[in-house]
Amino acid sequence: MGSQRRSVPHDWEWFTKGRYGAFLHWGPYAELGRGEQALFREHLDQREYEERACRWNPQQFDPRQWAYVIKKAGMKYACFTTRHHDGYCLWDTQYTDYSSARQAPGRDFVQEFVDAFRAEGLRIGLYYSWADWRVPAFFDGPDRDPEGWEAMRRYMHGQVEELLTKYGRIDHFFFDGAWPRSYTELGSPELLRRMRQLQPHILINNRLGAADPGQGSHADGGEGAGERSDMGDFGTPEHRIAAEADRLWESCQVTTWRLWGYAYGERWKPADAWLDLLCECAETGDGGGGNLLLNVGPQPDGQLPAPFVERALEIGRWLDIHGEAVFDTDGGSLTEFVTRGRQTMKGNCLYLIIRFWDGRPELRLADLTSPVRSVTLLTTGQPLAFERQGEDLLIRGLPAERPTSLFPVIKIECEGRPETNAWGKQRLWSGDPRRIAEWARTRGTTVFVGGGPERL
Ligand code: GLC
Repeated sequence: MGSQRRSVPHDWEWFTKGRYGAFLHWGPYAELGRGEQALFREHLDQREYEERACRWNPQQFDPRQWAYVIKKAGMKYACFTTRHHDGYCLWDTQYTDYSSARQAPGRDFVQEFVDAFRAEGLRIGLYYSWADWRVPAFFDGPDRDPEGWEAMRRYMHGQVEELLTKYGRIDHFFFDGAWPRSYTELGSPELLRRMRQLQPHILINNRLGAADPGQGSHADGGEGAGERSDMGDFGTPEHRIAAEADRLWESCQVTTWRLWGYAYGERWKPADAWLDLLCECAETGDGGGGNLLLNVGPQPDGQLPAPFVERALEIGRWLDIHGEAVFDTDGGSLTEFVTRGRQTMKGNCLYLIIRFWDGRPELRLADLTSPVRSVTLLTTGQPLAFERQGEDLLIRGLPAERPTSLFPVIKIECEGRPETNAWGKQRLWSGDPRRIAEWARTRGTTVFVGGGPERL
């Protein structure tokens, strides 16, 4: 409420200002079409899976097309799965032959991704799973299998180092799948130091292992173990939006219903549901909002699924006009506007992002105390008449028809930072309940209709 923007090192400003990135979950699992975890969840035969993975040879993979769409969609960066829990690597790693470079495709997909996305001016993120379902030592751990564990640790550290030396500047790094290991076991502190030497400006997420051995947790569908670890530059709420008090955060969300990797027949959420996630990230928390990492699982042949492209571009067109209400903003939720939509702020401006367009010509915004200079329907550029009525602002002249297929935005320019009164600082289900009692009392109503006792 009335948040101040958190100050971040200059090298990280692209992240806080940019707000919106793509998560790309892709690998040989795409061919099965049941998400990225079919190997484990369906207890598939490891050898058969592996043989099939080695034959996987996507003919239509052209990351320049991905980058083109993602740029047009208004996203500012993308994070690509270099290796998921199945252990298959999408780059030419010297540590294993189980990779796109040394199996059927004979291509370094990470290199191609990095080149194409950089060429579009997008920032580069890499996802890396600690867990590798082929390797028992990862799950046995150092106590049960000290030698196997040491080999595994070297393998993981070596691969991360490779990813940070072979491909130029990497802006964002997303670890996952630390469960059941602790950060001491994983050697996260040493690895992080090394990563920062190699890429001093990099942003690293928080899935770095549990605080103590055996404390790892990984609720089904929840965050990776290590979520509570105090290391890492940004939090990673998964399938949910929740601000972190003391650090940056990025909510990762699916565009379908549950799975990250490609799934045949899974339903797609509509574009307005995706856009609402982005606006909610922008308005949530006291540090100036958070980021949205919006996922897509490309098809097994390497193309982006058409329903993704369609919706992503629809949002991109909306952002072309309304982007100032989302990018580089100062947080939001100034007043209790939730019944209509979302609020963000930037400098002296308050943006009303309206989900429910009810066709009435007027909109009453309660609790905005700042003097107002101008009100504009950002969607059309049309200036709107307004009138102060006490601490309410009455905005007039709204069109009956919703002026965009997504959310119309009203921009209110104030004199100074937008401010709210005591009511506006509280929320319906929090704050001082006596204010509501007082309000009900002044209205003089009773629970009885037609002649009951005046007071309970
Ligand atoms: C989860 C899942 C994984 C997905 C990821 C995205 O922990 O195990 O399949 O890649 O998080 O955040």
